[in-house]
Amino acid sequence: MPDLTTMPAESKTGQQQGTMGGGETPERLLVTDTRTGKEYQLPISDGTIKSMDLRQIKVSDQDFGLMGYDPAFMNTASCRSKVTFIDGDKGILRYRGYPIDQLAESSSYLEVAYLLMHGELPSSAAMKEWERNITFHTMLHENIKKFMDSFNYDAHPMGMLVSTVGALSTFYPDARDVHNAEARMLQIFRLIGKMPTIAAYCYRHRRGLPYVYPENDLSYTGNFLSMIYKMAEPKYQIDPVLERALDVLFILHADHEQNCSTNVMRSIGSSFADPFVAMAGAAAALYGPLHGGANEEVLLMLNEIGSKDKVGEFIKHVKNGERRLMGFGHRVYKNYDPRAKIIKQTADQVFELTGRNKLLDIALELEHIALEDEYFVKRRLYPNVDFYSGIIYQAMGFPTDAFTVLFAIARTSGWLAQWQEMLMDADQKIARPRQVYLGYDERYYVPRDKRP
Ligand code: ACO
Repeated sequence: MPDLTTMPAESKTGQQQGTMGGGETPERLLVTDTRTGKEYQLPISDGTIKSMDLRQIKVSDQDFGLMGYDPAFMNTASCRSKVTFIDGDKGILRYRGYPIDQLAESSSYLEVAYLLMHGELPSSAAMKEWERNITFHTMLHENIKKFMDSFNYDAHPMGMLVSTVGALSTFYPDARDVHNAEARMLQIFRLIGKMPTIAAYCYRHRRGLPYVYPENDLSYTGNFLSMIYKMAEPKYQIDPVLERALDVLFILHADHEQNCSTNVMRSIGSSFADPFVAMAGAAAALYGPLHGGANEEVLLMLNEIGSKDKVGEFIKHVKNGERRLMGFGHRVYKNYDPRAKIIKQTADQVFELTGRNKLLDIALELEHIALEDEYFVKRRLYPNVDFYSGIIYQAMGFPTDAFTVLFAIARTSGWLAQWQEMLMDADQKIARPRQVYLGYDERYYVPRDKRP
């Protein structure tokens, strides 16, 4: 921590406005502590001050020092990252610098997963090897099948997924070697490879259908569709439109910088727990209705509204604060979520094949009203990625409670890229926030018979 505590601000400014090695003028934040009259200059770097620099601001030597108070990390950067860039005001999303619309148009999910993990697009040879490595890790240990068999017939797929991903940790003790690059990459292959298989087993379990084994000659999403829908036929006929649509949806969901579940992945990973248990935690965070669970909630909401003419009534309840318009609003986007735009185009392609989902009309009406209504305009609430994704998933034949599982498959690459970046980052330590304690001061224990 730089010692900038004592000198008057003017003299320090004069002294420090010299060079920063490279001849740049250092940017500093000037702070006056009105409790003591002392002034401090805190270095600004990449548009941030270090919260640890606040600790030198004290009223006495015994004082712990100033902390930032930021529940829900509304304005706290927890890391420096090179993975994903979002400009929420402009509605921009880029993975490793590449705009999401270009990736959705031209790339594949597995290529995007490589990009997130390695930072660059792969050469043809690297891509072939990457695909091969992931394809060769799609099988699950037979005991995992038995493990999944023990779930109740109506178990929520996300509950099954979270537990099964956690259970994989017991099959791969080598995953604990998180400081070994080779061991880490093996777990990355395993997790990206096995997630569709686990997801498909969750689906089949709910239906009482036999599990279908992965097939190595199929694409990532083609194999997933086969494991979901294959019945007695020797080879499941994959529709290329659905295969590609699912691939695009996976690309759109692959990463989203420091969202709730990624923060959990990094946080658990910061204790050097293995990536299976860390990802089980991340998936659990995703399950919540304010995060990845919103896609399921949107469908329930649209079904509840039932028809276009009931939309106005529903919006009234939202504006009265009785309901939330699920699939709307975002912590970061204060503009149209760029992913929602692409999803609308994908929906058209899917509906051409499957027939139009009647819930789309209700969703379009909700969006139309909300985008013009002062309540939503003032709060800058726009459709997010989940507003339309569920409608497409439903048209593809997925049950509502499987939607978040699909999100989890796609987010696996992002979680792992962020986990790896965290482990490589010399600034990172075990994640451990501070608190502002507002409870009792010390008091004496009262025996039970003396309590009021
Ligand atoms: N419907 C109605 N009002 C809303 C909504 C909504 N969907 N979202 C936010 N608001 C209102 C809030 O009530 C608040 O109003 P106020 O200022 O009068 O109190 C204001 O907009 C700001 O909202 P916050 O809750 O403070 O925003 P925050 O950044 O904390 O929450 C969140 C973001 C959780 C996504 C929120 O918008 C929400 O609950 N949306 C619905 C659930 C959803 O779609 N989640 C998926 C997000 S995308 C993803 O995680 C993959």
